[in-house]
Amino acid sequence: MDILEILSAVRMLASKNGLVTCRLTDEKGDVSDAGVKTLVIEKPEEIKNSFGEWFKENTEAPETVVLKDVCSIAVSSLGETGRQRIPGRVVIVTGGAQGFGAGIAEELFEEGANIVVADLNEEVGSEMVGKLNAKDYANKALFVKTDVSDPDSVENLVKETTLRFGGLDVMISNAGILRAGGLDEMDPKTFEIMTKVNYTGYFYCAKYSSKVMKIQSEYSDGNHFMDIIQINSKSGLKGSNRNFAYAGGKFGGIGLTQSFALELMPNQIKVNSICPGNFFDGPLWSNPENGLFVQYLKAGKVPGAKTIEDVKKFYENQVPARRGCRVIDVVRAILYAIEQEYETGQAIPVTGGQEMLK
Ligand SMILES: NC(=O)c1ccc[n+]([C@@H]2O[C@H](COP(=O)([O-])OP(=O)(O)OC[C@H]3O[C@@H](n4cnc5c(N)ncnc54)[C@H](O)[C@@H]3O)[C@@H](O)[C@H]2O)c1
Repeated sequence: MDILEILSAVRMLASKNGLVTCRLTDEKGDVSDAGVKTLVIEKPEEIKNSFGEWFKENTEAPETVVLKDVCSIAVSSLGETGRQRIPGRVVIVTGGAQGFGAGIAEELFEEGANIVVADLNEEVGSEMVGKLNAKDYANKALFVKTDVSDPDSVENLVKETTLRFGGLDVMISNAGILRAGGLDEMDPKTFEIMTKVNYTGYFYCAKYSSKVMKIQSEYSDGNHFMDIIQINSKSGLKGSNRNFAYAGGKFGGIGLTQSFALELMPNQIKVNSICPGNFFDGPLWSNPENGLFVQYLKAGKVPGAKTIEDVKKFYENQVPARRGCRVIDVVRAILYAIEQEYETGQAIPVTGGQEMLK
């Protein structure tokens, strides 16, 4: 067993009465001063049995687990968590530095999750994580610089997450980019970059997160459900004029979701996509310098529009709910996907009625 397997196994086995986090300590499996709340395991193969024996005599998890001559692991439980909905879960949010991703990270942190913000933007992502940790909650946040289009970088993200928290329960593949353009404008390089981030990046997220989740499934009692959630788009449900590179990648993402779902349900891993409508208040649309509202106004895309407000109204009027999608709308769908245990392989629309399933 390598160290990531040991940590994931220990976290599941110690989580009998509520999720815990597990972290390596500096001691290398030294049993000489093992305290009363220490579980000593002679050999890695004996992990399951040793925990079985521990819980015959104790209701609480051990505070320290020592694998003799291998490593020592500090186990922490969150204690009283009040009405939080996902206390102690370990959640990665890719593209979590801004936009939907940042909002999702903040909301799920309030719900008790340990959050890993994974983003290319180190400055903004670290600042955000600092803000979350300043709340001094029992759950914590971590920033890991990540490029989702690079498999080594995503593998490292999962490794850093496991070393910090002892495992991974929810992977939210949210990072995405949009470069619009028709066939005449779209150059092959841009198409390729978009596909690597929006489509292939999701494959890397599922590949490396499922590896740890499968170990957790092996060591849990069969009731520990995990989630891979892709933030897709309404453009994954219906073609998008002069925006095919984006829509194509998002359609493909739903094919991945359905296929991963079939493969991973036996391991208690649910896989779902969430398909939000336009997030008009987010930077993609509202950035005053290069947001889509400014771009569309300058390009005269909306006939008769003289101001940004005119462009915004035009788009809002296309939504039956008469407003754009908000972070909280997406978070409610994410919490549904996590809390239910009987649905996988779905593409859940959150579009204010703009897109409906056939
Ligand atoms: N904004 C919308 O209207 C809208 C609507 C539906 C779906 N979505 C989807 O929601 C997700 C988030 O969109 P958003 O509008 O919040 O985006 P955004 O541009 O505001 O933020 C995206 C974040 O992802 C990061 N990122 C970009 N490339 C990355 C990479 N290769 N590796 C790691 N991080 C990377 C960026 O640094 C940024 O922090 C995307 O998948 C998008 O397709 C957005």
